[in-house]
Amino acid sequence: MSRPVQARRLEGIDKNIWVEFVKLAATYSTVNLGQGFPDFPPPDFLKEAFSRAVSGEKHTLHQYTRAFGHPPLVKILAQLFGKLLGRELDPMTNVMVTVGAYQALFCCFQAFIEEGDEVIIIEPFFDCYEPMVKMAGGTPVYIPLRPKAPKEGKLMSSADWQLDPAELASKFSEQTKAIVLNSPNNPLGKVFSRGELELIADLCVKHDALCISDEVYEWLVYDGKEHIRIASLPGMWDRTVIVGSAGKTFSITGWKVGWTVGPNRLLQHLRTVHQNSVYHCATAAQDAVAQGFQRELERYGKPDSYFVQLPRELQQKRDQLIQSLVAVGMKPIIPEGTYFLVADISEFKSEVPDVPDSDEPYDSRFAKWMVKNKGLAAIPLSAFYCGAHKDNYNSFIRFCFAKDATLKAADDILQRWKLEKAAP
Ligand SMILES: Cc1ncc(COP(=O)(O)O)c(C=O)c1O
Repeated sequence: MSRPVQARRLEGIDKNIWVEFVKLAATYSTVNLGQGFPDFPPPDFLKEAFSRAVSGEKHTLHQYTRAFGHPPLVKILAQLFGKLLGRELDPMTNVMVTVGAYQALFCCFQAFIEEGDEVIIIEPFFDCYEPMVKMAGGTPVYIPLRPKAPKEGKLMSSADWQLDPAELASKFSEQTKAIVLNSPNNPLGKVFSRGELELIADLCVKHDALCISDEVYEWLVYDGKEHIRIASLPGMWDRTVIVGSAGKTFSITGWKVGWTVGPNRLLQHLRTVHQNSVYHCATAAQDAVAQGFQRELERYGKPDSYFVQLPRELQQKRDQLIQSLVAVGMKPIIPEGTYFLVADISEFKSEVPDVPDSDEPYDSRFAKWMVKNKGLAAIPLSAFYCGAHKDNYNSFIRFCFAKDATLKAADDILQRWKLEKAAP
């Protein structure tokens, strides 16, 4: 008996970029700007909320809570997203709490994708979308963001990477079930403009497609950019599931609290998947996150809001890393959002040994060379492309700049590298 979905689940499991690069970084005890999590502590108000949750009088916080989200958390999320989207939300039917955004994404693909359905994925993309679509029995259809050359003497911006409208339209078909949108985008840091979102929205409405909108970096936007929620565009609320993450929002990736926001007609399907797989996410963590959002809602837009302070601090780190990378001859692409930065490494081709008959992309070889020779870890951009497109985008690497001590250590390495290059 042929079992196509089961076979597809095994595809590529022997080659996981994260396993490979984490191991390499550990082997060479490297300064690691590869993986995407902060090395600085979360805000005190959140740590205190967690302590209160686990050591306070409320023993119920050690027990099961409501499967689809601890009531205080779904209530505050409904209030906040209601305000952001300009519509009244029912905490019980329009919000569902998940084990990180990761499980929210998994629920979406399991809930909506049937054998034969196509899912449009914009490249470069957060790598789990591809296996998750395949596990559900769907077929990913890829469309790359295409870079435009920057103005003479200028660094490229993530805004220079754009969808070709005709190419995007050509990807929609009778089989299209959904498009995955990730704005701000990991790895590029691109924040999709209103015009770009309208283009996607019009095609979703025309082809009756869903939009799985991964907005985990929604608060991390720079240079006065605005994060626009596609669900707020005409015709989109009813066909969009917003995916969010307390991990990215409050610098607590290890707590694994995420959520989905959307119309009940879609969320009812997510609830079935969630209830029959995970059931619910840790009660104390949900309670503390609810308190964090309560605080933020009270300070919304004010200078002492974490949602204002964190991007301000990250923007400084971004600018510091840009300077250091330029000094060694890389060409950073200035990210408009997220805590990632992609840099062009074309200049180093002569330094990295060619491996005859290897099909390993140049960026992967470069990243390994950099770990071994410079002690600095980053992730090759080709890891964020489908197999067929990897070679078209193989001269970039991704750094994470949500770091304090690690960024300082990386800066020291880059300074030394710069001096070595200058030496006769
Ligand atoms: C684009 C994107 N979506 C989802 C996730 C997963 O978020 P969480 O840690 O809340 O599961 C990540 C984590 O790196 C991400 O970059």
